[in-house]
Amino acid sequence: MRILTARLVAISLFLATLLSPISGTLAADFKREVIYQIITDRFFDGSPANNNPSQSSGLYDSTKTNWRMYWGGDLQGIQQKMAYLAGMGVTAIWISPPVDNLNTNIPDGSGNPTASYHGYQGRDFKRIEEHFGNPSNTWTDFDNLVTAAHQNGIKVIVDFAPNHTTQNNAGEFGALYDNGVFLGNYTNDTNGYFHHNPNISGGGWDDRYQVQYYTLFDLADVNQEHATMDAYMKASAQLFQQHGADGFRIDAIKHLGWGWQYSLANSIYTYGDSFLFGEWFQGNTSDPLYHDSYKFANKSGISMLDFPLNTAIRNVFASNTNFSTIDSVITQEASNFTWKEDLVTFIDNHDMARFLSVNNNNNRLHQAMSFVLTARGIPCIYYGTEQYLHNDTSGGTDPYNRPMMPGFDTTTTAYQLVNKLSTLRRNNPALAYGSMGQRWMNNDVYIFERKFFGNVVLVAINKNETTGYNISGLNTALPAGNYSDNLTALLGGVPISVGSGSGGNNPVATFTLPANTVSVWQFTEGASTPQIGSIGPTVGQSGVKVTIAGRNFGSATGTVKFGTTNATINSWSSTKVVATTPTVTNGNYNVTVTNSSGQVSNGIQYTVLTAKLIPVTFTVYNATPTQVGDYIFLTGNTVELGSWSTTWDGAVGPMLTPNYPNWFLNASVPAGQTIQFKFIKIAANGAVTWEAGSNHTYTVPTSGTGFVSVNWQY
Ligand code: NOJ
Ligand code: NOJ
Ligand code: CA
Repeated sequence: MRILTARLVAISLFLATLLSPISGTLAADFKREVIYQIITDRFFDGSPANNNPSQSSGLYDSTKTNWRMYWGGDLQGIQQKMAYLAGMGVTAIWISPPVDNLNTNIPDGSGNPTASYHGYQGRDFKRIEEHFGNPSNTWTDFDNLVTAAHQNGIKVIVDFAPNHTTQNNAGEFGALYDNGVFLGNYTNDTNGYFHHNPNISGGGWDDRYQVQYYTLFDLADVNQEHATMDAYMKASAQLFQQHGADGFRIDAIKHLGWGWQYSLANSIYTYGDSFLFGEWFQGNTSDPLYHDSYKFANKSGISMLDFPLNTAIRNVFASNTNFSTIDSVITQEASNFTWKEDLVTFIDNHDMARFLSVNNNNNRLHQAMSFVLTARGIPCIYYGTEQYLHNDTSGGTDPYNRPMMPGFDTTTTAYQLVNKLSTLRRNNPALAYGSMGQRWMNNDVYIFERKFFGNVVLVAINKNETTGYNISGLNTALPAGNYSDNLTALLGGVPISVGSGSGGNNPVATFTLPANTVSVWQFTEGASTPQIGSIGPTVGQSGVKVTIAGRNFGSATGTVKFGTTNATINSWSSTKVVATTPTVTNGNYNVTVTNSSGQVSNGIQYTVLTAKLIPVTFTVYNATPTQVGDYIFLTGNTVELGSWSTTWDGAVGPMLTPNYPNWFLNASVPAGQTIQFKFIKIAANGAVTWEAGSNHTYTVPTSGTGFVSVNWQY
C-alpha cells in the first residue's frame, strides 16, 4: 500500500513536471537573483557529437579562428558547469536563443562563412538548435539543462526573439517552420506572415512606426498581428514554460509591436509564473523614445534591461567620469519607472565591448561589479567577467566580445565578489526590494544606501586609484553600532562606527575611505510585521496567479486582499505567498498581506485586467487637423484602454501615422468584451481634443487577433 502510494506520487510528480511549469520555483520574483548571461556557443563544449550536424554541416570552426561560426559550446556544456555557476552565487542563467536557427552559411562581405552561432536567426521556434542540443533537434538537452539548473537552485531564462526569423535576402530567406512543418518564407509570402518594409536606418531608429514595422538588419520581420504568427509565437513561449523555463529575455522589444507584447506577456502569465524583461536599446534618458520605454515597462508586465544606467556605469567606471553621471540616472529613472527594482542592470553584454576592452583595469571592473550587485535592479553578469575575459580586436566589439570561456577558475577575486554579494542579496532584503539613496558623493566617491523597512545596506566606492578621502558628515539609517566590511576586505574595505541620530540619520564617525576600495556594511532586522517587497506579475486578469514576496508573512496562512476583496491563497510561506487574482472590476488595486495574527502589510500596486488580452489593430481615418508634436491616442472604458484617461501616460498610444491623416495602433484589449472607445488628440502643448459623437463600440474576439477601423467623428 505504502509502496503503491509512493509510486502514484512519483508518477504524478513526473506527470506534473511534464505538464506544468515546475511549481515551487516561483520565478515571478527575480529581485533576489543574480543573473549570468551565457553565449551558449562560447561557454563550454559538453558534447562534440553536435559540433557539425548534417542538416547544417560546415558551420563549425574547430580552429576557433572565424569568430562568426559555431565553436562547439552547447547546452550540455552549461549543464556540466552547473557547480561552477552555483559556487559563484549565480541563481539564474540567461542562455542564447535555443531555438532551431538558420541552417546555411551566409558569407560576409569578404566571402568568409558566417553562421547564426548567437541564436538570433530562428527558423523553428518549437525545436532546439542542433548545435546546442542534438542532431534530431529534440528537447532532451534543454530539459536536462533545466533539471540540472533547478537542482542547483538556478533558474533558466530563455532568450526569446520573436521579432524576426532569418535573413530575408540570403540563406533561407526567412523560412519559418512549425515543429518541422514549413509555414512560409519572406520571398513568397502569400499569407502575409512578414512585414515587407525597408531596413530601419537614420532617423527611423527614433520613429515609432519604423522601429516597430520596418526591418531590423535584413532580418525577416514577423507580422505578429497575423493570427497564425500570433498563435505560433505564443505557443513557442508556452512550450518553453512547459519545459521548465523560469523567465524570458525578450530580444529587440523596441522593434516588436509594443501593443502586441502586452498580450504576449499576458499569455505567458496566464499559463504560469514567469519573469519577463526585454531589450529596449537606448543610450540614455534623453533618448527620444525614453518616455515610451518606461510607459511600456510600467504597464506591459515586461521589465527591461537598464540601458541608460549601463551607459552611466561604463562612463563612470571605465571612462572615469564623475559619479554624478550615475547618480542622476538613478534619480531620473526612480521618478519614471514604477517597477525600478525589476530593471535588469549590467556592465556589458554581447552587443558592446567588454568592460576590460574599454579600460583594462581589474580594480575598476570590481568596483563596477560591486555597484550593479548592490544597486537597485536585478544584476546580470556577462559570462567570463569573473575570469577577466576580453579580446580587444576592433576595440573588442561584436564578435570579439564573445570569446570562448578561457577557464573555470573559482579563486579569482571577481568570482568571490559575485559569491559574497549574491549571498548578501539573498539574506538582506534591502538589496532586493529597498529604496536607493545617495548619502555622500564627490567625483570619485559614491556612498549610497539601500533600505527596506529596517533592513539597510550602505555601500561606499572610491574609484580614485591613489587618493583616499576623509568622509565626514555621512549619515546612515544603519542603527548605532560598529560595522565591519561585509566583503571582508576583498576590495580593501574598512569598518565604520555609527552613532545615534534621529529620523533615520545616524552619524558615521569620520573615517578615511582608502583609494581603489569598496566597502559594504549591512544590517538585517528581526521579524516584525508583514512587509511586501515584490509582486509578480504586476498585471493580470481574474485567475492569474500572483507571487507576493517579502518578509514576516508568518508560517500560518493569513489573507491577501486586492483592495478589499480576499483572494484565494495557493501557497503560503513566511517570505512568499502565491494568490489568485480575484474576480473584481478591472483597474488598479492595492494588494496587502495580513498575517494570521491580523497584522497588515504595506500595499503594492497590481492591475487587474478585464479578461485575457487579444491584440487588436485600431485604425482611425482622417483625424485632422494635427500639427507637428500633436498625437492621436486611443482611450476607452476598461483599464486596458486607459479607463478614459486623456493623459500621455494614461491613454493608449501615441498612435502611428504612416499614412497621414489616418492613424493606427495595435493594442491588447480584453477578449470577448464589447468595449467602448474614442480617439483623442493630445496636442504638443498638452491640450486634449475629443472626437465628437457617441463612443465607438467593438466586440473583441475571444481568440486570435482583431482589426477595427472607424472614421474620426467631427
Ligand atoms: C539584439 C541582440 O542582443 C543582438 O545580439 C541581435 O543580433 C539583435 N537583437 C537581433 O536579434
Ligand atoms: C468624455 C468625452 O467628452 C466623451 O466624448 C466621451 O464619449 C466620454 N468621455 C466617454 O464616455
Ligand atoms: Ca558541441
